Amino acid sequence: MISKKMADALNKHMNLELYSAHLYLSMSSCSNEKGLKGAANWFMVQYREEMIHFMKFYTYLIDQGINITLPASKAVPNSYKSLLEMFEKTLTHEQLITACINDLCELAVKDKDHASQIFLQWFVTEQIEEENNDRDLIAKLKLVGDNGHGILMIDGEMAQRVFVAPPGSPLAV
Ligand code: FEO
Repeated sequence: MISKKMADALNKHMNLELYSAHLYLSMSSCSNEKGLKGAANWFMVQYREEMIHFMKFYTYLIDQGINITLPASKAVPNSYKSLLEMFEKTLTHEQLITACINDLCELAVKDKDHASQIFLQWFVTEQIEEENNDRDLIAKLKLVGDNGHGILMIDGEMAQRVFVAPPGSPLAV
């Protein structure tokens, strides 16, 4: 049994993970429109990862006997001037997610909610990787600047990204 306050906070964050999925699906579409098929693949993989994050929260809340609340989906931006801008926005968004996860962890400690503390640990680790991936790509994109050949090389690397569902994932999408 988790507290109502904790359930509400987890539900709110679950919806933010769904927003993240939509944000990256839109970035995949924008990349495709720019002819960057590798980036489109990278963001599609990211979309699928976010759906797993969303479903992890969903399943945890259901297992705790909570009736979840879903909002109407909020419109996400669908226009970016460059791949660099997309990744700068992605990093800012992931830093927000990290801060939210940290707040949830603090609430779980305050509530003496050991189950939620254990559940949230996976996300604490995951956020290190999420932010690191974005920082690496931003650094590479800044190095090549407007050089089309350089951008295409990075796009080629991004085409290699493959979706791997974490073990025990609640949903393979
Ligand atoms: Fe689910 Fe990218 O944080």
